[in-house]
Amino acid sequence: MKQPEIVILPDPVALAEAAGRRFVAAAAEAIAACGQFNVALAGGSTPAGLYRRLAQRPYVEQVDWPRVFVYFGDERCVPADHPDSNYRMARETLLDHVPLPPANVFRIVGELPPHEAADLYAHIVRADLGRYSFRPRFDLILLGMGDDGHTASLFPGTVGLTERWRLAVSTEVPAYVRPAVARVTLTLRALNAAARVMFLVAGAAKAETVRAVLTGPEPAEPLPARRVRLRNGRLVWLLDEAAAAGLRSGT
Ligand code: 6PG
Repeated sequence: MKQPEIVILPDPVALAEAAGRRFVAAAAEAIAACGQFNVALAGGSTPAGLYRRLAQRPYVEQVDWPRVFVYFGDERCVPADHPDSNYRMARETLLDHVPLPPANVFRIVGELPPHEAADLYAHIVRADLGRYSFRPRFDLILLGMGDDGHTASLFPGTVGLTERWRLAVSTEVPAYVRPAVARVTLTLRALNAAARVMFLVAGAAKAETVRAVLTGPEPAEPLPARRVRLRNGRLVWLLDEAAAAGLRSGT
């Protein structure tokens, strides 16, 4: 397994800038190769800086948006206009501000019963991305990481980590997680088949977990974010200095 590329940026603004450049490059490469760019967006707060940046010059002019197809790495089981909706966050920061046809956006239907939402989403992902190969392959998946090492909605000890076949599952969340609502998430199978995965992680609160995920011998129970390892893809971690502190100090 290839080692991930680790890029350390001074602060969250520089992290969003670097992520924007890489997003543009990934989109151009995929569109040149097969006429479209299938990307799964991350939820949470860190990616919002990237999404706002992509909606501004020069990036907004450098992406062939009508050829971009937007999916989601995970979603909270709430309606699309709920303050906790990852889709709502992406719509407000990016989707409403770029010339992307609404038909190109495949949100997870959080208002359905969670298992139905997961089955519907897995069907859509397989139908769209599995057209050309048995293994559906996103061109790019954006991910964040919680300080417990979760990514998407793959929390320690939950079903998405052990699912071998389905591309998306519904999952309850551990008691400490907020918002305390069920989730739908892509599984490790879907994540690890991607052509590129880009983690966006910022803040001192993540530093110890970043160190645990990116350094040291393989533990018996690796944290979820450590289990994102691409078979034939490019994995990059974009970190700000605060989140990377544990890598530098060797603590
Ligand atoms: C979500 C995200 C989740 C997020 C991490 C980090 O639905 O909240 O999928 O995995 O990426 O919790 O969130 P922050 O970027 O807000 O720290």
